[in-house]
Amino acid sequence: MTSTESRRRFLADLGTAGAALAAGPWLQTVGYAAQARGPARALVTSASHRQDFDRRLFGAFLEHLGRSIYTGVYEPESPLADKNGFRTDVIKEVKGLTVPIMRYPGGNFVSGYNWLDGVGPKNKRPTVLERAWNSLETNQFGTNEFVDWCGLIGTEPLLAFNLGTGMPDMAVAYVEYCNVDKGTKWSDLRRSHGYERPHNVRYWCLGNEMDGPWQMGHMPAREYGQKARDTARQLRVLDRGLQLIACGSSNPSMPTYLVWDREVLEECYDQVDAISLHNYFGNTPEQTGNSTARFLAMNLDMERQIREIAAVCDYVQGLQKSPKRLWLSFDEWNVWYRARSGPYADGNRTFAPKLLEEVYNLEDALLVGGFVNTLLRQSERVRIGCLAQIMNVIAPLVTNKTSVLRQSIYYPYAWALQYARGRVLDLSVESETYPIEGRGLRRDLARDDQVPFLDVVATLNGQNGQACVLMLNRDLESERELTIEWRDTAPSRVLACETLTGPDVKAFNTFEQPQRVVPRPLDAPKPAARMSFKLPPRSYTVAHLATM
Ligand code: AHR
Repeated sequence: MTSTESRRRFLADLGTAGAALAAGPWLQTVGYAAQARGPARALVTSASHRQDFDRRLFGAFLEHLGRSIYTGVYEPESPLADKNGFRTDVIKEVKGLTVPIMRYPGGNFVSGYNWLDGVGPKNKRPTVLERAWNSLETNQFGTNEFVDWCGLIGTEPLLAFNLGTGMPDMAVAYVEYCNVDKGTKWSDLRRSHGYERPHNVRYWCLGNEMDGPWQMGHMPAREYGQKARDTARQLRVLDRGLQLIACGSSNPSMPTYLVWDREVLEECYDQVDAISLHNYFGNTPEQTGNSTARFLAMNLDMERQIREIAAVCDYVQGLQKSPKRLWLSFDEWNVWYRARSGPYADGNRTFAPKLLEEVYNLEDALLVGGFVNTLLRQSERVRIGCLAQIMNVIAPLVTNKTSVLRQSIYYPYAWALQYARGRVLDLSVESETYPIEGRGLRRDLARDDQVPFLDVVATLNGQNGQACVLMLNRDLESERELTIEWRDTAPSRVLACETLTGPDVKAFNTFEQPQRVVPRPLDAPKPAARMSFKLPPRSYTVAHLATM
């Protein structure tokens, strides 16, 4: 039986069983069918036509902000520092994650940053007043230190230009400094700084959140689009192979959402390769009505945002009759709502202030699991994704003087990196649903809809035959059973099965109690063509399976 036939038969079965209900808009867009009651079912087919997803989908972000760099990754005074001042315990943790790409140096920070301040002899680097976060920036850590650090943790740099206060010529000089071998002003400057070999940075962001009135150098869409186009055109002279990411809307609640993206792309479509998406989610009165059930559905809002921005790209492609299809860079995403404004975002002209140090609980981790599922589902379009951020600032990892703490959101992110490999498989899921209501919520989130209790994705690594299934159970009260039917392949061994759950969705880890929200083993069903998982209430679960 072909996979199309088996999918057809599965969907027909759903119909004749009388269990399927009319699908709501969300269900349809994620390929789900609603079911009245009973165990959920997922039919998995091999999707052998599909390419492997780009592992850069699960990148991260390191900004000059708060304690992210100073006392995070760089602390020369620490007994834990290596000869370059990098914290070795942090290197070990981040390296262990195998993060594929790391965005740097911002964020809002980049829109006022002069990269020249951060290169050359450290004793000559200026201390400046950093205006995005009102902090003191000593520039003791700059581009070369970042590239060295990336080498130590085994990740690829994704650098951003200052297109706020900065002009195209300095962006071009930055690429010349980083990527040209020798014999030019900026490449020879890099050599004089002790870096003979070019850094060969391939991915670059053309500014950051330029649609935001909070951004230094914020400007209208068309003006930004022209600046991005001019910068990109000059950069192409240096290196045609660069991958350039234009700034898209900062989030769907912006009054200019989608119009910004359209106008920017109308100006620079032919010169760029991708557009950025950002979004931070919170369990707040305006976003969810403080409802955990609504909060856990927010990865579907992220999914909608991806489709909408992709539609704008395709619209402009059509208008311009361009053969080029843009890809998407979701280069800032996370839960973030508690440590967000006021003193949490004001460095008060101090060095390495404690800013945006969000404490993450179990429900945040479950939603981060949902984001992982969404990114995988949308990975044909989203090539880069960056969990924002990696260290201390809205981060899965937090340092004190002597150690590194893993916050709850570390675990779903780590599973994505460790287990999800190869291609994303086709899934038809039949799951019971629960209703959500839009009344009283922020407009971009105000929808009445049906949300499946279970959110499932699966990947298969064609190299070694290992599959990964990631399962979110949004049911806050009850265990839910999920029967997975494998049509073109059958698991032969369960390599790992773990779940992240607990009685209290508000529980979080601290340096004193680092084990409150950690994964625990889950009894896995016998490996077979049909496997029934019992998913605990409020849980995110990974099954790692051998199929050969
Ligand atoms: O990640 C924190 C901040 O959020 C970034 O600096 C900015 O780009 C976004 O608004």
